[in-house]
Amino acid sequence: MTTQSPASIDFDAIKQLTLAEAKAVDQLIVSELSSDVILINEIGRYIVTNGGKRLRPMLLLLAAKALGDVSQNHLILAAVIEFIHTATLLHDDVVDESDLRRGEASANAVWGNAASVLVGDYLYSSAFEMMVRTDNMRVMELLSKTTTAIAEGAVLQLLNCNNPDTTEAKYLEVIARKTAILFSAATQLAGILSNSGEKIETALAQYGQHLGIAFQLIDDALDYKATSEELGKNLGDDLAEGKPTLPLIYAIQNGTPEEAAIVIAAIKNGNREVFNDVYAVVQRTNAITYTEEQADLQAQKAIDSLAILPESDYKNALILLAKFAVQRSY
Ligand code: IPE
Ligand code: IPE
Ligand code: MG
Ligand code: MG
Repeated sequence: MTTQSPASIDFDAIKQLTLAEAKAVDQLIVSELSSDVILINEIGRYIVTNGGKRLRPMLLLLAAKALGDVSQNHLILAAVIEFIHTATLLHDDVVDESDLRRGEASANAVWGNAASVLVGDYLYSSAFEMMVRTDNMRVMELLSKTTTAIAEGAVLQLLNCNNPDTTEAKYLEVIARKTAILFSAATQLAGILSNSGEKIETALAQYGQHLGIAFQLIDDALDYKATSEELGKNLGDDLAEGKPTLPLIYAIQNGTPEEAAIVIAAIKNGNREVFNDVYAVVQRTNAITYTEEQADLQAQKAIDSLAILPESDYKNALILLAKFAVQRSY
């Protein structure tokens, strides 16, 4: 349970605020996925039509609406952000050896690792081709820096795997790059395209960054406590990979020597079989609660960053989405 925000957030109601624009973005996504290389169409459509929350494009569109009108370039960049996100998921499921994504067999489970990596590359390239259409150097600068940072985050995480000495600070460095920076780019891009000025742009970037950290903190908690049906992903994938996420880092620091030893061995060995033992330690040490509290703090910082924006339904929706990032169960 989280410590704040007891009222549950109606994600579908928030979605209504950008329904028409999101539909246009989805059309762009589908049309960009058509290639004469059949496998690209097949895998691209498979993963994209299996759903996904489309949270990042929604954030970009809401930020744009909070600042004024939504232009064609906003729609293009919303699609670009979702393409980059989808590319990272294709690659991530290969690296994490995950076989369930968005409630279906992951692309690597269906077509194999090679196809997933290559189609992920295609999505990245396609995103950059689309981005160039905006003919805006600041947009291109931000997006290329963003994808570089995401790659750095993924490599840093790889280095931390099976290392039980990973600190909370090192963990936060990873999630800032692998996840939060794309959220930050999404909201900042809205500001760049709307010529909002430096102050608002910075505020939007900070909002996205804090929201993204909250989002990944909760993702890492959900890997222990969600239900697979609702999450659309397998639980325990992080443990199987020996990934030292915050629930485990905190459990090691706050468990008895015997409890810490269970978690340390699990990280070193990357072993799904000990999930129940590790989960018991995570529960006993309140590590999930601690992780959720940290997410709450980040969500509050995200909300505080929005103070500079004029009042509107769209700004309120951005506030609610920061709360959703913490309360979600999928
Ligand atoms: C999953 O992101 C990857 C993380 C950064 C945790 P989402 O939870 O937004 O995935 P979809 O797009 O809704 O499937
Ligand atoms: C997010 O980390 C990875 C990306 C930023 C692509 P996870 O590995 O925890 O994401 P899921 O749980 O597989 O979606
Ligand atoms: Mg993963
Ligand atoms: Mg995860």
